[in-house]
Amino acid sequence: MTGAPLLTIRDLSVIWPGTERPAVAGVSLDLRQGERLALIGESGSGKSTLARAIAGLLPPRTRLRGGLHWAGDTPRLGRDIGYVFQDPGGSLDPLLSIGAQLVETLRAHLPLDRAAARDRAQALLTQVRLPDPAAALAAYPHQFSGGQRQRIAIALAIAADPKLLIADEATSALDMLVQAEITALLRELSETRGMTLLFITHDIALAGGLADRIAVMRDAHLVEAGAARQVIDAPTEAYTRQLLAAHMDLNGPRLVGPAPEAVSA
Ligand SMILES: Nc1ncnc2c1ncn2[C@@H]1O[C@H](COP(=O)(O)OP(=O)(O)OP(=O)(O)O)[C@@H](O)[C@H]1O
Ligand SMILES: [Mg+2]
Repeated sequence: MTGAPLLTIRDLSVIWPGTERPAVAGVSLDLRQGERLALIGESGSGKSTLARAIAGLLPPRTRLRGGLHWAGDTPRLGRDIGYVFQDPGGSLDPLLSIGAQLVETLRAHLPLDRAAARDRAQALLTQVRLPDPAAALAAYPHQFSGGQRQRIAIALAIAADPKLLIADEATSALDMLVQAEITALLRELSETRGMTLLFITHDIALAGGLADRIAVMRDAHLVEAGAARQVIDAPTEAYTRQLLAAHMDLNGPRLVGPAPEAVSA
């Protein structure tokens, strides 16, 4: 179940510096506390721009119209909003040990001494199911696989116990099995922490397995938003049906169950 409104977006438009066409045009969308919303749509449709607007991650000369209304104080990135990028390089410093990065992030946001921060860092690595968390604290990003680095990036993003976690194509660069594992982890973290999740993906099936609601963007506009099952089973927009059809073409009969056994008379 999801709770009170966390963020109300009304008629939001975003124009990047040096461009004329809005990358996000007239988008209205609500995010509730504890809900999991998947944002889908083709490349260039404005998903990342919308996510960056929510996180306050747009460059200074960006033109913003319309409103982002938060319940309570304006959230701070890193404290109230966690952000996981497609490339864990966007979150991890190659020159610092995992422990140093986690301790630094924790102490920037929470009143912890070094020892308490280190204990909490190890607990976070356990929560994201990194193998051997104690040893991982002393290791460096290059010593981990892509999926493990993304787990560490998630630990960093949730370190300060944010209300909202934004995962922008956080699993897209990973193979299908690891992608499914990380998606399940994000779902579990959102459930156990009551943390709102904004999950951006190209993969409508992945969205359906994770989200309470699905919002569909096309060409800077939000074209459809509704309960996940409803958007997948009975999409109102032709564009959403195209996305579903494209998924079926790429993935064959995966969504309709295993192929039947050969029958002999
Ligand atoms: N830093 C930038 N400066 C100028 N324009 C940008 C910038 N980033 C994105 N855009 C433009 O904004 C529009 C939307 O891009 P955005 O990255 O939000 O799409 P997206 O849906 O996240 O695509 P993808 O699935 O490929 O990540 C595009 O036309 C893009 O060229
Ligand atoms: Mg993007």
